[in-house]
Amino acid sequence: LFSWFREMLNSQPISSEGDHGLQVFGYEDITRILADTKTFSSETARLFNLPHPELDRFDEGNLVTTDPPRHRKLRTVISQVFTPRSVANLAERIELITDTLLDKVADRDSFDLVDALAFPLPITVIADVLGLPIEDEPLFRVWGDAIGALDAATVPPELLEGEVGPALHEMGEYFLRHMRDRRQNPRDDVMSRLANATIDGEPLTDGEMIGVTGLTMFAGHATTMSLICTAVILLGQHPEALAEIRADRDLVPGALEEVLRMYPPFPRLVRVTTTDTEIGGHPVAANQLVTPWIGAANRDGAKFPDPDRFDIHRNTGGHLVFGQGIHFCLGAPLARLEGKIALNLLLDRYSKISVDPERGVEWENPNQIICPRRLPVRATR
Ligand code: HEM
Repeated sequence: LFSWFREMLNSQPISSEGDHGLQVFGYEDITRILADTKTFSSETARLFNLPHPELDRFDEGNLVTTDPPRHRKLRTVISQVFTPRSVANLAERIELITDTLLDKVADRDSFDLVDALAFPLPITVIADVLGLPIEDEPLFRVWGDAIGALDAATVPPELLEGEVGPALHEMGEYFLRHMRDRRQNPRDDVMSRLANATIDGEPLTDGEMIGVTGLTMFAGHATTMSLICTAVILLGQHPEALAEIRADRDLVPGALEEVLRMYPPFPRLVRVTTTDTEIGGHPVAANQLVTPWIGAANRDGAKFPDPDRFDIHRNTGGHLVFGQGIHFCLGAPLARLEGKIALNLLLDRYSKISVDPERGVEWENPNQIICPRRLPVRATR
């Protein structure tokens, strides 16, 4: 994928070849698209998907695929839950969860980092924040896979008729059960706050509740999992950077930003044009799918000099890993905190941790998400 980004940035930074509509690679063009939400709408689902009750219900509260003014109302509800302060308060809890997970593999010198830490950590944290029982994790796995299978722009009908539709239905009913319970017996958790929140003076509809909760629960799962894994992979490949970080832990946040710049969990976003327009001199008709490849923009030499070099001291400001503008990721502070704690605790426990060369990494489909499915590591205390 990254060599293709390089090739496209050098030869065709805007291209209509392939099946992603108009594909855009350059940093400047992409930031223009993300800033102009009137021309480049996020409401791709409505245009490209056939109506389906489960998808429609989920989309009612899915702010990623919603334009203003509705977007602002939904976003206000979630931002009350994800203030930077409320996230900072989670640090101790995240440390405890990370330690407990790592204790389970304490007697092993080789294990799968996905199974041991990267998969369970974000889902346990978010279930905790929402106030959902972690014993239900097997269900969350099934629903997470279902949501992961929904391509951002088009969802093939056979997927919805197969496993995905019923999984979305089951997830929706589960969230609604919790919502009704919290409306009657509010607790000190995010589910209670959402269940009793209002939009224009009205309580959230069933669809809004399902979309907002589902998004909160799953937008940060595979993505944070990816950050933990790619940090270990990249630092394993750069022992000099790793040694510097070990000696000075204040370098961890900057190193994680560089990991994200180089390996953005979501390599691409999706938008749809609302009117005839142009991008970088290329005319685009209305109702066209536009794919900003943020993974390529993060390696655009015009913005990041020597872009393919991993440099933990680089100024990564302006990278597009969490998007930009009104849809900027609401979970960024939480993802950064989880990444920082996970990396620090791994470095505390192990003098050496690197990918097991005999087994190697297994990746998910990189067109959708840059994330290992399996990451066998060797770890020395
Ligand atoms: C939006 C990436 C973690 C919740 C986004 C967007 C990106 C993104 C690129 C913008 C989508 C667009 O413009 O179309 C990431 C990455 C993460 C991460 C790379 C981890 C490394 C999280 C976490 C949560 C979360 C932990 C919640 C717990 C959200 C929400 C939105 C969003 C609610 C929608 C914001 C809106 O549309 O206004 N994320 N995310 N994300 N993310 Fe994240």
